[in-house]
Amino acid sequence: MALALSILLLAWPTVETGPLDSTSAIPACCGRPPPAGAAPAESDYDAAVDADADAAGAEKECRKLDADDPALAEVLEQAEIVGKVSRLTGGNMIKYVFRLKDGSPEGLKVVFKPAQVGDWGDWKNEIAAYRIDQALGFRLVPATARRELPFSLFDLSDPKVAAALRPDALEPPGPDETVEGALQVWVPSSHVAEEGEGRAWAEKMLTELGTTAGDLEDRVTAAVFVRLVIFDFLLSNPDRYSGGNMLRDSGGRYWAIDNAGAFVGCVRPKTDLLKLRRFEKVAVERLKKLDRKTLRTQLKGLLTDGRFRTFWKRRREVLERVRELSSKLGKSKVLF
Ligand SMILES: Nc1ncnc2c1ncn2[C@@H]1O[C@H](COP(=O)(O)OP(=O)(O)O)[C@@H](O)[C@H]1O
Ligand SMILES: [Mg+2]
Repeated sequence: MALALSILLLAWPTVETGPLDSTSAIPACCGRPPPAGAAPAESDYDAAVDADADAAGAEKECRKLDADDPALAEVLEQAEIVGKVSRLTGGNMIKYVFRLKDGSPEGLKVVFKPAQVGDWGDWKNEIAAYRIDQALGFRLVPATARRELPFSLFDLSDPKVAAALRPDALEPPGPDETVEGALQVWVPSSHVAEEGEGRAWAEKMLTELGTTAGDLEDRVTAAVFVRLVIFDFLLSNPDRYSGGNMLRDSGGRYWAIDNAGAFVGCVRPKTDLLKLRRFEKVAVERLKKLDRKTLRTQLKGLLTDGRFRTFWKRRREVLERVRELSSKLGKSKVLF
């Protein structure tokens, strides 16, 4: 019962205020890294330091954070790395996992996609995707931020890795050489939402949402799916249901990861969008309210002007589609 309630609260699309209770929330983080100099140098974080700070009346905000909480972006941008940096194999892009000092005993698990050559994607798109998701309030993408890290952290002994990360380099990296990339919060207690939730799941959802007849089986999941379709159309993301790019956490919440290959003008997301006859009202309202100027500023350096214009054009297309369906089929039938 408690689990069912937390699933409902987690995924309920109109919930706006405060962090949602989540069985997979980042445990007891403080939302910001310990101030420089205050943290112990060794990798084992001593909770007593925080307890002392509390006793001294220091201001501290402790609460459970979901993986998309904007407070985590600050940790991503600044916090010190603790423990081992390991390569995450599988998939197409080169990426690494490690932990950041965030005030929790074990540290915040993160995944880093560095700048690399290849056709699979651009790290900047991962950050753009997070910022767009935040601006829309769709809550699909884990917190992601830009980070520049020393090359010395990464094992470049595999020539393929070295060639992708440092093309044309003849010498090993110097001590001050850095690599920039996208650092993303690892969604705790998550699994790849593949079986029953990959393309076959999408087709089932498209069938259900492709008609205005009958009641929706599960409004919450339907709302999440509509958000996914809109999001992937806006970003022209080709690769949502092919495997590994949609996660589900232990609280039942869906996460859209691996947005590196977006903004390439893929047709499939539009095909999906055009199949929808019903749209979540909240998602449409948020899309309407999106402020072009603010978002453009937030995406500076991440998206070219051309890509941003295309993104904005797609936003209009979604809204026009909803308007057209509403006048043909009736607003109350189309919007839920
Ligand atoms: N933020 C994350 N939280 C949890 N698991 C993740 C996260 N990012 C990646 N993973 C895991 O790593 C796999 C590969 O990551 P992905 O971003 O899809 O890389 P690639 O571009 O190589 O496909 C994912 O399928 C997922 O299992
Ligand atoms: Mg992937």
